Amino acid sequence: MSKNWKLLYLSQEDCVRAGGTNMTGTMKATERSFFLHGKGDFIQPGKPVIRWGGPETEETTGRVMSMPSFLGGDKYHDELLQRDLLGAVNTSGIKFIPSKPWNPKKFGLPRATALIIILDPETLIPKCVMDGAIVSAMRTGAASGVAAKYLANPDSEVMGLIGASVQGKTQLMAMKAGVPSLKMCKVFDLNETASEQFAEDMSIKTGMEVILAQSAEEAFKDADIISTATMARSPYVEANWYKPGVFHAEISFWDTPPEALTIFDRIYVDDWYQVKHHGVDVSWRAVDQGVISEERISGNLGEVVIGTNSGRNSKEERIFFNPIGMGIHDLSEAHRVFTYAKNNNIGEWLTYFEEPDEWLKDLRF
Ligand SMILES: NC(=O)c1ccc[n+]([C@@H]2O[C@H](COP(=O)([O-])OP(=O)(O)OC[C@H]3O[C@@H](n4cnc5c(N)ncnc54)[C@H](O)[C@@H]3O)[C@@H](O)[C@H]2O)c1
Repeated sequence: MSKNWKLLYLSQEDCVRAGGTNMTGTMKATERSFFLHGKGDFIQPGKPVIRWGGPETEETTGRVMSMPSFLGGDKYHDELLQRDLLGAVNTSGIKFIPSKPWNPKKFGLPRATALIIILDPETLIPKCVMDGAIVSAMRTGAASGVAAKYLANPDSEVMGLIGASVQGKTQLMAMKAGVPSLKMCKVFDLNETASEQFAEDMSIKTGMEVILAQSAEEAFKDADIISTATMARSPYVEANWYKPGVFHAEISFWDTPPEALTIFDRIYVDDWYQVKHHGVDVSWRAVDQGVISEERISGNLGEVVIGTNSGRNSKEERIFFNPIGMGIHDLSEAHRVFTYAKNNNIGEWLTYFEEPDEWLKDLRF
């Protein structure tokens, strides 16, 4: 009997055809992974990172991350469906994501590219190899969007956004999906052309008023929801810029100084173990440097999603969300795109092997 094994290859264009840029879908997949994280139905080892120096070099010379994970869901099948969260995943996979900061300027190429492998759950043999850049950018936006849905004031109208590039776009889309009352976004980027293009494109996509701020401070002032998504190499945020009730998602690493965290009533992360393991997020540096105690970390967002952590307790609380990025988000979102592609004949089935042990006959010097 032939043991021919095929795997589905999905290019970026295939991922788009398979719904990879649909933020409503990504929000569901990302909330599913937060939910299963809260329930403990996942396995996610600390991610290995190749970097050519300390944490700060990730923003200068780059990094290569590998993010393996398993995500379950069988036990929570009914609850996932009740919550409209797509159903179980029950498989493992890995995202391999290199980042080279100079790519956009030097080569006109993306800073971050990625490949994701999804395994067949029965045999643990690769069943899908797909672009991971779209999944990665979409789920990072969605992680902030889901956090805002649970932690921001639900009548928030004004967003302040720093960083008008790839992540800035998905941050805005997801915040609007998570908090539909948002009406306006003030965007600031050191690259003014990028901000102008952002405002033009994103006002059409979101139906919001998107205006240029002349400084980060101007973008922050009076904002109900803030997102920092830059390649800043040193902090520029000041604690007195925040209004009461603000929700701030910091997905990049060096925007907010550790001292500014003292102003927050609650500080959430996606996974405190992962944040500590990577050692670059400001929430970890604030604890590591003794600026705040570890008890000031209010919890992982998944606990808020499943209801074991109260989340926001009053309209006035200032809340900071500082995700390091979880492999289970990538797996959940990649699984959504893969499932759609498989069911709709998108992508190319490649032969992985025709007879798995045939190569042994060819051993030679
Ligand atoms: N936490 C996560 O899960 C996660 C996931 C993906 C990406 N990220 C991080 O998000 C950040 C942004 O990613 P990207 O793909 O959009 O990067 P990018 O290189 O495409 O864009 C970065 C933007 O930041 C702007 N910028 C740099 N310094 C600035 C400053 N001081 N003030 C204002 N603007 C400034 C640049 O002009 C540029 O437009 C990176 O730090 C990346 O590592 C985090």
